[in-house]
Amino acid sequence: MNEMGLNLTSEEQDMLGGKRGNATRKAMEIITTLGEIYGAERLLPVVSVQIAGVSYHNLGEAGLEYLSEMAEDGRTQVLTTLNPAGMDLLEWKKHGISDDFAVNQKRVVDAFSKMGVVTTCTCTPYLIGNLPHYGEHIAWAESSAVCFANSVIGARTNREGGPSALASALTGKTAEYGFHLEKNRVAQVGYEIRAELKTTDDFGLLGKVMGDRTGKEIPYITGVSHATTDHLRSFCASIATYGGVALFHMEGITPNRTAVPEITETVTKEDLEKARQELDDESAEIDFISVGCPHASIADIARVAELLDGKKVTEGKTVWITTAKPTKDVAIKMGYYDKIEKAGAYLVSDACCAVAPLKGRFKGLMTDSAKACFYARGKNRFDVRIRTVDECIKAAIS
Ligand code: F3S
Repeated sequence: MNEMGLNLTSEEQDMLGGKRGNATRKAMEIITTLGEIYGAERLLPVVSVQIAGVSYHNLGEAGLEYLSEMAEDGRTQVLTTLNPAGMDLLEWKKHGISDDFAVNQKRVVDAFSKMGVVTTCTCTPYLIGNLPHYGEHIAWAESSAVCFANSVIGARTNREGGPSALASALTGKTAEYGFHLEKNRVAQVGYEIRAELKTTDDFGLLGKVMGDRTGKEIPYITGVSHATTDHLRSFCASIATYGGVALFHMEGITPNRTAVPEITETVTKEDLEKARQELDDESAEIDFISVGCPHASIADIARVAELLDGKKVTEGKTVWITTAKPTKDVAIKMGYYDKIEKAGAYLVSDACCAVAPLKGRFKGLMTDSAKACFYARGKNRFDVRIRTVDECIKAAIS
């Protein structure tokens, strides 16, 4: 046991003592400090890491300097992928990203690459091969992915920050506290959903209602009869954004193994409609349509391609379908990319409408994502409107 009360193995002590290099020492300092703050008794090995804070727009020069320093001798110990960057790493120019921004964004990605990070930038790592299984300990940072990993997959992760996730990548360790412990994964509030949920925007609205109502409490949800991976992806993003929820249990759908709390909350069709009204800016002048928050699956892209096939995006409107690069590659192979781009829309990989430097470029965003609405309003000062994917695409071509 070291002076901080953590039981460290000799390997971990070596890392902390600098025997594995400077970056590993710094990384271990972050992990042990967090462990001390949260009363952990030991560190755990992690099998997967996902790092957020990748966009140069958010990192700035200070963040880049830190990464460059860590990249001098830091190397990843486990599979590590990145959250979206501020631009499509290949096709950024045609999306209106400036040369200056591109140069700096590439410096960020290069620093991660030097450390051995798989530089595919996505908030849905579970769709492209960074997929832990039930019960595994991981260190992920993107809030929607954290919620998905804990709830849908049943893996175990705290909501890491950029530096702590990087620290786990470089050491292969995390401190055992929070959601790594069974006792902290028990449902705290019971919900009954009395509304039919059909589309990703419906699930996003449900996440907003619940997040607004009971915040971070771990919900046990009954009454949802069916949910696809894409529905759950949308729900996770929304409930994490509006409530900071990192874990939920959905009866019959997620691998919940928890005591069931008394049902004290109900969500009705009217609640969802009210949430939609709260998100919709009546007078929004829609000039930007974005689908793919969290990053679109190949099924989403196939549907968008079908809707756009042979059509043209109306002049004055910009359409971004955002996804992971490996998914974009499949879309290219399947001919979906051509259909989307021939219509004048963009299939954008590695980035999204919230982390790209888009402030001032548009007035109003239409999206199927409640989370995208939150950031578009708060960060980019766009008006917003939430609709189904089909309605979004139809609005783009009408
Ligand atoms: Fe992903 Fe960006 Fe939405 S990181 S969850 S697409 S805001």
